[in-house]
Amino acid sequence: MRVYLSEDYKSMSRRAANILSAQVITKPDSVLGLATGGTPVGAYQQLVEWYQKGDLSFAETRSVNLDEYYGLSPRHEQSYRYFMQVNLFDHIDIKYENTHVLDGLAKSPVAECARYNQLIRSLGGIDLQLLGMGHNGHIAFNEPGDGFELETHLVTLTESTIEANTRFFGRREDVPRQALSMGIKNIMQARRILIMVSGEAKADIVCRAFRGPISTQVPASILQLHPDVTLVGDREALHKLVEAGEPVCG
Ligand code: PGA
Repeated sequence: MRVYLSEDYKSMSRRAANILSAQVITKPDSVLGLATGGTPVGAYQQLVEWYQKGDLSFAETRSVNLDEYYGLSPRHEQSYRYFMQVNLFDHIDIKYENTHVLDGLAKSPVAECARYNQLIRSLGGIDLQLLGMGHNGHIAFNEPGDGFELETHLVTLTESTIEANTRFFGRREDVPRQALSMGIKNIMQARRILIMVSGEAKADIVCRAFRGPISTQVPASILQLHPDVTLVGDREALHKLVEAGEPVCG
């Protein structure tokens, strides 16, 4: 694993955007696995800025998003399709038909998950998967205790995740209780992984994920077994990992 420590959120966002843009420049038709949440917003803003300057094009790029709330329409302001449009897709030249997000209104979650697994395979797999990490070590909506062998599946959110996401919905009761999510198996099959972490509240879980035992209780710990992981974080999120002896690149 390569670890890049940045002083603050802005510089870590720039670093992550650098890695994403290098992927797109060297392979314009890359399949990017994309993530939502608070952490990647700054990296997406940076990519938009570079696109607007003419330094970057996504005209051939394909994308698959990690997850979507089950029961939310793509037009709902808290749906992850909406998030991706507002934070990235509406501002760059990626073709709408090349962007893929799970359908939160699918009548059959089982059929929708099977379709998504097949879609990822038909695209040739994911070249670079962007990830955030939950306070409980979840990646996408793979919560503690979920099997590492799962592909895309319907998930029941944990109390900790509902709590963390209440800030986006305003009221706790408005947070959906279920989501469709890529599984750990889909994530581990990506050729490269870029995981971003920010803020003191993540410092302990980052340490457990990358220095502790590999366990389904900390889903992100499985990334220790992936051959090409880059961790980008700010000092607040990474200081405990560094104090525990993890080498950093810069
Ligand atoms: P955050 O979420 O980026 O909003 O902290 C990360 C996650 O839950 O995966």
